[in-house]
This record gives sequence, C-alpha cells and structure tokens, in this order.
Amino acid sequence: MITKKMEKALNEQINKEFYSAYLYLAMSAYCNKINMPGCEHWFRLQYDEEIIHMTKLFDYLMQHGGEARLMKIDEPAAEFGSALSAFEAALKHEQFVTQSINELLNVAVEEKDHATQVFLQWFITEQVEEEANAKEIVDRLQMIGDNGAALMMIDDKLGQRLPPAPAAEA
Ligand code: FEO
Repeated sequence: MITKKMEKALNEQINKEFYSAYLYLAMSAYCNKINMPGCEHWFRLQYDEEIIHMTKLFDYLMQHGGEARLMKIDEPAAEFGSALSAFEAALKHEQFVTQSINELLNVAVEEKDHATQVFLQWFITEQVEEEANAKEIVDRLQMIGDNGAALMMIDDKLGQRLPPAPAAEA
C-alpha cells in the first residue's frame, strides 16, 4: 500500500508530465507558425511521449493502491522567439523534470517504498535520453546559426523522427 506522501508526490509528477505534454504541443504549434514542419513534427511526437510518461505514472499509482488526483495544468507560452530558443527551453524543461524525478526517488527512499524505487528507475534512465536528445538539437542549431540551407536540412531530419513505443511497451 502506498503512503500518502508518496501518493502526493506521484500525483504532482503526473501533473508535471501533463504540463510537459502541453508545453511541447505549444512548441509544435509555434513551429507550425514559423514554417518549420520538421520541428513541428518532432515536438508533436514529444507531446505523445509525455502523454506516455503521464500514463505510466497514472496507471502505476492506481495499481499500487493510490488515488489519482488530476490537478490544474498551467498555460504554456505560445511564443518562443526561434526554433533554437524553443529547443533551449525544451532542454531547460527536461533538466527541471530530471530534478523532479530525482526528488521523487528521494521520497520513495524516505518512505521505504521499494516498489516505487524500482518503478522510477525507468524514468531515471529515460531522463538521461530526454536531456541528451534536446541537447543534441540545441548544439546543432547553435552551430548553424542563421544558415538557411543548414536550417532546412536539420528541419528535414527532425521531421523523420519516429513515434514512441506505446506505454505498455515503453
Ligand atoms: Fe516526461 Fe520529457 O520527460
């Protein structure tokens, strides 16, 4: 049976994953507006990925005897300045989520909740990948600056991103 403190922390993480999905959907819309369809596609798939993260937490919480509480989701920005700025904001956000997952694991350790500690290992590994993916794109966009042809090439490449595996397989 899950403790109230662990239940609250998992519910807060569900809210953060929902916000992440919202944020990436807003970034996708922004990239549509600035005519970067590859970036739009990449952020749209990132939205799907965050919904998978949220669903994993949501399902686990109830399976573990907890009560899921859906909280208000903050409104993300609509304007990001440039594709580079959007990806920089995405990287910063992933670093925030990594910190949040680490704190969640600290709660599981404090609560002596071994099952949740094991469950969270997937998220710990996932965050390494999430940060690396965003950082790679930021580095490339910084490197090319205002080079229009190179920007189009990166946009094309980001447009080739494949959908994430469904929650049950992830
Ligand atoms: Fe759910 Fe991008 O971390």
